[in-house]
Amino acid sequence: MTENQHIATGSKEEQYEALLPQIKALVEGETDLIANLANITGAIKEQFNFLWIGFYLIKDNELVLGPFQGPIACTRIQKGRGVCGTAWAEEKIIIVPDVEKFPGHIACSSLSKSEIVLPVSKNGVVYGVLDIDSTTLDTFDEIDARFLKQIVEFIP
Ligand code: SME
Repeated sequence: MTENQHIATGSKEEQYEALLPQIKALVEGETDLIANLANITGAIKEQFNFLWIGFYLIKDNELVLGPFQGPIACTRIQKGRGVCGTAWAEEKIIIVPDVEKFPGHIACSSLSKSEIVLPVSKNGVVYGVLDIDSTTLDTFDEIDARFLKQIVEFIP
């Protein structure tokens, strides 16, 4: 596994390109889900310093807060509620350029201005979501979606 994370500079693509193999090395060989999710949130936080990076995991048909980096957050989200619950219900990546314009957005932090949520699945079954919040508007785009999708696909 990676002992020390190399923090890359450059374009967003260059930063993700440096981050991806390090995350792959971190999680491969480790079978514990919580350990892997925790390290992924830490690695993304160190590279990009987004406001909040975390996983919600499906338990008893609701999303329950899992490993995260950032301010404290709401612990439970119903299916179809907020950006996270919608990404789960629709099983698709949701990019929100301005959270105030997303109907039903759940504001865990007033500092959050834009957001991306990706469903996380194993063997085709969604078991949670990865949620990333930014303090600036319009932070996330198809580049983030493409690289973050690869990151969650690394999870054993
Ligand atoms: N904004 C999310 C809730 C989770 S927090 O951002 C950490 C949502 O609308 O689902």
